[in-house]
Amino acid sequence: MSQSEFSALIMAAGKGTRMVSTTAKVLHEVAGKPMLTRVIDNARRSGASSIYVIVGHEAESVRSRISAEDSEPRGVEWVLQEDQRGTGHAVIVSLDALARGPGTVLILSGDVPLLQARTLEEFVSRHFETGRQASLMTCRPKDATGYGRILRSDSGAFTGIVEHRDATPQERDLREINSGVYLFDREVLTIYGKRLTTENAQGEYYLTDIFSLMVKDDIEVDAIDCEAAEELLGINDRVDLAVAERILYRRNCLRHMRAGVTIRDPDHTDIGDDVEIGTDTVIGISTSLSSKTRIGSRCMIDNHVTISNSEIGDGTHVKPYSLIVDSEIGENCSIGPCTHLRPGSDIQDRAKVGNFVEIKKSVIGPGSKVSHLSYIGDASLGRGVNVGAGTITCNYDGQAKHKTIIGDDVFIGSDSVLVAPVTLGNRSYVAAASVITRDVPEEALAIARGRQVNKPGYRIFLENKLGLSALKPASTAPVSPSPDSADAGKQDPDGI
Ligand code: UD1
Ligand code: CA
Repeated sequence: MSQSEFSALIMAAGKGTRMVSTTAKVLHEVAGKPMLTRVIDNARRSGASSIYVIVGHEAESVRSRISAEDSEPRGVEWVLQEDQRGTGHAVIVSLDALARGPGTVLILSGDVPLLQARTLEEFVSRHFETGRQASLMTCRPKDATGYGRILRSDSGAFTGIVEHRDATPQERDLREINSGVYLFDREVLTIYGKRLTTENAQGEYYLTDIFSLMVKDDIEVDAIDCEAAEELLGINDRVDLAVAERILYRRNCLRHMRAGVTIRDPDHTDIGDDVEIGTDTVIGISTSLSSKTRIGSRCMIDNHVTISNSEIGDGTHVKPYSLIVDSEIGENCSIGPCTHLRPGSDIQDRAKVGNFVEIKKSVIGPGSKVSHLSYIGDASLGRGVNVGAGTITCNYDGQAKHKTIIGDDVFIGSDSVLVAPVTLGNRSYVAAASVITRDVPEEALAIARGRQVNKPGYRIFLENKLGLSALKPASTAPVSPSPDSADAGKQDPDGI
């Protein structure tokens, strides 16, 4: 084991009472990822050789959800803290597991998700440089409420931590707080862990009490006052959660802006960590780009667009209020406004999908157009197809889904219904308002609706049948009863 090797111990067993939730606090998502996933990722990036996560409240759901999110094959080792009797107790129950790893332990809280790997790396190197047996990160947030306060002697030497609920009014005025990020010699945890008591306002074993015990034994602790107050925000309730989320999204927006993306309103744009965006793309206001979304160069992603786990080619314009999920869009396409692309939509180069169109599990070939008010599901359209307004694929018969296959250069008239399974050959036509139930051969015209019948002289026929007065032209009929219209009413008491 190298001198600077360390393991990470992440405390995530607490109930998180202040969240007022049936979901464990550490599973609440911050900018698209559970907060515990973020802490695990950061521990890994900072160089921890093994990672232990302490779970207790909702242990099983935390374990399964976090394992499902975790792409690292080495995974994490789980430690069960059956009764949650405080952060000190959490560490004590982990000592057996820690004994299998290196002699230095980085302790993190599952509810401090904004910490960046770079900041952690600096903390770790400083700890190994100073050679102290314990180090902790402190900071001075704008609002210190709820945090443990750092106690220092007149000369500035660190003497211990007092929890908010145990602090005197004078101590509560102290601005420097404990971030809950520590590095310890494992031996120190073993020795001083045994000496913790529950004599405090919460009746819990506080990990933070270890420090005053060490100082009393003349062991120097390095309490580093960091500038990273924003990164050390602890999430205890949903107000903290919203603050943390905005910080993360803003971080991502700034990264993209510096890399050549225009973001019109970074304060109201949600861009997840794994999103990629090409240069000279413009992102409108109130947009949300999440999961593994990849957007090309010179695209316009207009206002109020939501895109999740989708790929968009160069030069494509997504117009306002569109929702795109698990889909692929080629280059120079036009999507929206108000388009819904459901999973499995494959919109190829130069295609157009317009307002109030819903597409699901379908291919729209190059240059094809579905411009207005259509539903296309389980279909495959070739190139150069024109789908008229209001066309619907009937893909579901109540039992199973069926496919609609449309060749190249097909022209479908407005308000057509394509009852699947059905195939429309290349360069075929469908007359407007047809209900197509059989395949259409190449280059044929299919008309499948009642033939129009004109009845000449129908007006005269009605007048003769019903009597002239009953058929007053609408333009001369009174809008509301008036003295002049009273006579008309008398002449025809039954109306029409
Ligand atoms: C803790 C610190 C406080 C610090 C703050 C920083 C203590 C006593 N206090 O307070 O000094 O300013 O973090 O954010 O440590 N947990 C367990 N098992 C338990 C109890 C808690 O695993 O029995 C976990 C929680 O799930 C959480 C973390 O430990 O992830 C911190 O616990 P929490 O109750 O949030 O501590 P704070 O009151 O915020
Ligand atoms: Ca906390």
